[in-house]
Order: sequence, then structure tokens, then C-alpha cells
Amino acid sequence: MNSLANKNILLGVTGGIAAYKSAEIVRSLKKAGSSVRVVMTKSAEEFITPLTLQALSGNKVSSELLDPESELGMGHIELAKWADAILIAPATANTLAKLASGRGDDLLSSISLAFEGPISLAPAMNQAMWKDSRTEENIKKLINSKFQIYGPGSGEQACGDVGLGRMLEPDEIISSFSLLFEEGLLMNKSILISAGPTQEPIDPVRYITNKSSGKMGYSLAQASLEAGAKVTLISGPVNIEAPEGVHLVKIKTAEEMHEAVMHHIRNSDVFISSAAVADYKPESFSKEKIKKSNKDLDISIPMTENKDILKSAGEMENKPYLVGFAAETNDLIKNAKLKLSKKKLDLIVANDISNTEIGFDSDENEVTLINNEIELFIEKGPKKRVASKIIQYISEQLTS
Ligand code: CTP
Repeated sequence: MNSLANKNILLGVTGGIAAYKSAEIVRSLKKAGSSVRVVMTKSAEEFITPLTLQALSGNKVSSELLDPESELGMGHIELAKWADAILIAPATANTLAKLASGRGDDLLSSISLAFEGPISLAPAMNQAMWKDSRTEENIKKLINSKFQIYGPGSGEQACGDVGLGRMLEPDEIISSFSLLFEEGLLMNKSILISAGPTQEPIDPVRYITNKSSGKMGYSLAQASLEAGAKVTLISGPVNIEAPEGVHLVKIKTAEEMHEAVMHHIRNSDVFISSAAVADYKPESFSKEKIKKSNKDLDISIPMTENKDILKSAGEMENKPYLVGFAAETNDLIKNAKLKLSKKKLDLIVANDISNTEIGFDSDENEVTLINNEIELFIEKGPKKRVASKIIQYISEQLTS
């Protein structure tokens, strides 16, 4: 099934060197059966001519907010009503800033304000501009609003710099974008996801925890929602907001997470255990703050084992499709396979945490999906993109 067939797609092109790739995006959208209308900013016209995009899309390219001819036909309100989805590729730092602050001083930003559906952005800019704290703030605002962000990728840039900021390749953009319409993939499915760290208290002010940021689990929740699933997210303490539409259950300890998972798993088709659950907790909890002045104090903390939540799920009679994560510093594949069989899982996501650029607490990840049939490597990329690929694989398994 081609999810882009018969869809009205408005492609926004803004002024960056990657604008030449928008011609390929128009071609792919058309090939997939979409109707395409292109809106360009003034600076985009410096990089690629409207005529090229007009010829490829088969429609007049618009760029003027106050174009008398345009207002008679497809003005910004009409274009916003016409589109099923908007894709802006490339999206410059300036465009991100405009959209984040809700400005509408040109045709594309006005349409984006008037449009009520999903807007997808493929950022493209110099690596220093991408790293800038203001861009970071803008991205956070956009993600928490109606925007999906694809990429950017890393590598050598047109200006000679190396780093994050390159626009993703057109085929990568199209494959993420088409997920927006693949509502059938996880439609009517309930997905349970655990995310983040747990906190194991020692006394009222101290606890044992780990470096998990929850980003991978939250990205999986977002990708599941986008695929049409009903999502319950059981989360340890993290600093990110849950995507709108998920049922969020906040817990602190491994024991609370165990209880919450066991409660919700009964109604779930899939359980993805991405949480970094503490394997051990202090044997006892001191109600009073442990004082330094207590000279008799034995400063070692006796520990006791927590229940393995995923293993408990694997032992259930009518268990859902079970997905575990294997966070490993060595023998990645071998250890992941051991966990797959020991915990009776359907799939394990092997995650090399010895590489500090990926995995724990970072924005990017690189994983291998393993079960008895496959070893599927998902190359390094933003956690959202990796999450979409994991969800795509799981949904294929559920329907096959
Ligand atoms: N897990 C769990 N409950 C625990 C520990 C882990 O549900 N008490 C889950 C994690 O969410 C993950 C999988 O089990 O999906 C593997 O976790 P990991 O920490 O990699 O492995 P452990 O089983 O804890 O084994 P080890 O620490 O020895 O590597």
C-alpha cells in the first residue's frame, strides 16, 4: 500500500544549498501518487528556479504573500485548506525561528500558521547554526507543537565544515514523511513502552540512578503514535515532555515500574522495554537523612536485587509481542542474543553504550535489531529516526 497516493502535499522550499534536492523530493512525491504544490521563499529562488519545480510538480509555484493573482486562486488560506500535509525541505535556521515564534511574514510562514494538520521539517544548515542554543530552543518548541523534525544528518557540509546540519537525503525524508499517512500500520494496536531511569532511594535526599535520559523511549512513543497506535508510556524521572496523546504513567522506583507494567501489559499488543531499570536497590531505606556525624555508620550500602520486569513479562501466558533493549559495552551481539532467549523476547534492540556519541543520554543512536531470523543494522541517526525504523519493523511483524 502506498500511503502517499492521492494526498495533497504542499512542499515548502526555503533558501539553503540543499534546495536543489527539493526537485528530487517533488519527483518522489509525484511518483508516489501525490498532488504537489510548491511554495518557495524569496531566498530559495536564488538556489533553484521556480520553473524547475513547476515543471516537475505540474503546478504553478507560489512565493508571494500579496500576489493579487494568487489571492484570486490559491491564497495562503486556500493553500492551507488544500493540503493534507506540509513538508518543508530544506528548512533553514531562519525558517525554524519564524515557525517557532509563530511569525507569518511571507507566504510559507503564513500558510504554516493557517494550516491545522501535520507539518514536517527537514532542517539544513551549517553545523554551528544547528548547535546554537537558540536553534535548539526553537526545535524543542516545534517538536512540542504540531511539527515533525526529520534529521538533520551529519557529515561534510557544502561550506567545508563537518558535523550535524546536512539535510537528509530525499529518500530518507520521503520514507519518514510517508509514515504520517500509514495509519493502518499500528491502527487499533496498544503499545506499552517503558522509558527513562529508575531511582532507588537510600534516604529522603539520596538515591541510586543511571544516565538514561528517556529520549529513546519517548521517541518510540512518538513514532508509535504517528503510526496510529494507542500508547501508554511508563516513565522514570526525565526532563522531556511526553508527546501529546500518550497515556503517561510516572514512576520512580523499579518496583513501581514493575507494578505499572504488569497492570497495563494485559491490554497491550506490544511491550517495548526501553527503560534502564536498576538491577539492584538498597536493602533498606533510612527514613531519616543519614548524617555524616554518625560515627558508627557503616558507609557501605547493602543491596538487594530488583525484579526483572521484562523477564516477568516473558513468563506470562498470553504475552504480547515483547521487545527488549540490550545496553552493552562489549560483545554486543552475543550478549543481546543471550538476553533475547533468556527473557523469551520476540525482538531485542542491541545498543552499544561504549560509544558515548550514541545511546545513553545522547540525541543519536545506532542499533541492531535481533531475533531468531534477522540481524538488522539501523545506522546512526537522530533517535526519532531510529525509533521510526524500529516501529516500522515491529508493525511489519505484527501484520505478517
Ligand atoms: N530490564 C527490566 N528489568 C530489570 C532490568 C532490565 O525490564 N530489572 C529490561 C530493560 O528494560 C531492557 C532489558 O531488560 O529491555 C535488558 O536490560 P539490560 O540492563 O541491558 O540488561 P540486564 O538484564 O539488566 O542484564 P545486565 O545488566 O547484566 O547486562
